[in-house]
Amino acid sequence: MERAQAGEIIAAHGADLRVLIGGHDIERRLDEMAAELEPLVDWREAFVVVALKGAVIFAADLLRRLPPVDSVDFVQARSYGAGTTSSGHVRLLRDTELPVDGRSVVLLDDIADTGLTSSFLRDHLLSRGADGVRVVTMLDKPARRRVPLDLLATGFEIGDDFVVGYGLDYGERFRTLPFVAVLTG
Ligand code: IMP
Ligand code: MG
Repeated sequence: MERAQAGEIIAAHGADLRVLIGGHDIERRLDEMAAELEPLVDWREAFVVVALKGAVIFAADLLRRLPPVDSVDFVQARSYGAGTTSSGHVRLLRDTELPVDGRSVVLLDDIADTGLTSSFLRDHLLSRGADGVRVVTMLDKPARRRVPLDLLATGFEIGDDFVVGYGLDYGERFRTLPFVAVLTG
């Protein structure tokens, strides 16, 4: 499955998926991103906050390409409503265990869609006293943005399709696929 290439149709969980970004393309882009990001952050001082659950696979792959960071913790947010659209109301399900005040935070998120979740998490971490919060996402759907969101880096800009794989789910399924795909039926 790592070898799945853009355009291929793959069946999983009873659905047909059209591969949008193949596994090798993801690996290549992660190498580039790490090279881009390395000089932008003092990684040895960085407090990396990973947004559960979608960013887990991206974070694991990106962080191992970067210099050692100071510490890693997790947050989880939920925008109310199931399905494929964000309702616009975000709430915090899990906060970091470690203190945030005075820390230089890098927030890793799966996708900037409307941007509401990442900006909610950024504002939350700032309200807990973070010195600064820089946001990195694996995917970016700029056409759907509803709030301004500065990204320090992003892996891939994509269109308006709902995508799964590489951490992203539909109804909690498809997260572990090693590529990004569009659900086609
Ligand atoms: P937001 O609209 O930027 O707040 O995105 C909220 C969350 O919805 C993201 O962190 C993802 O977990 C999820 N999401 C947004 N777009 C997609 C998609 O295309 N596929 C799967 N999940 C998505
Ligand atoms: Mg989700």
